[in-house]
Amino acid sequence: MERTYVMIKPDGVARGLMGEVLSRIEKKGLKIVGMKFAVMEEAKAKEHYAEHVERPFFGGLVEFITSAPSLSLVVEGGDSIKIMRAINGATKPAEAAPGTIRGDFAVDTGRNLVHASDSPEAAEREIKIHFGDAALVSYPRCDDACLY
Ligand code: PPS
Repeated sequence: MERTYVMIKPDGVARGLMGEVLSRIEKKGLKIVGMKFAVMEEAKAKEHYAEHVERPFFGGLVEFITSAPSLSLVVEGGDSIKIMRAINGATKPAEAAPGTIRGDFAVDTGRNLVHASDSPEAAEREIKIHFGDAALVSYPRCDDACLY
């Protein structure tokens, strides 16, 4: 099964939206197999967003992401990478469709609540950054047989 990395950013935590986001992921039929609730270390945030180091928002983004707790997840399921990007909606909330997390709850790109890996390579890289060798859990969902 495909795995992806998802983050509920500090604004999502501060706005009390963790349950809402987790609920959408679970109700879709995806399985949460890793979870880490912590203030992200600066080194990890810089590594995570390394491809954007030259962009003007990089410093502010790292500062924001490390300013307060975020919830890191590993989410598993068929096509989980594409599905999580669809659940989150477009990066810019103004372009995010209603029914997506950003479309329903966000107005500003710098406070767009959630992150999800955009490719298999990114998912592997990001899971490694945030979970390292930590064991992910494995369990049956009672609806597995209906989902696949
Ligand atoms: S994408 O999806 O990679 O094409 O989006 P992109 O516009 O390149 O943005 C890359 C990540 O940077 C975040 N971002 C910003 N953060 C703070 N302030 C501003 N102005 C800003 N612009 C973009 C954007 O949310 C992407 O991070 P993630 O975590 O993937 O959402």
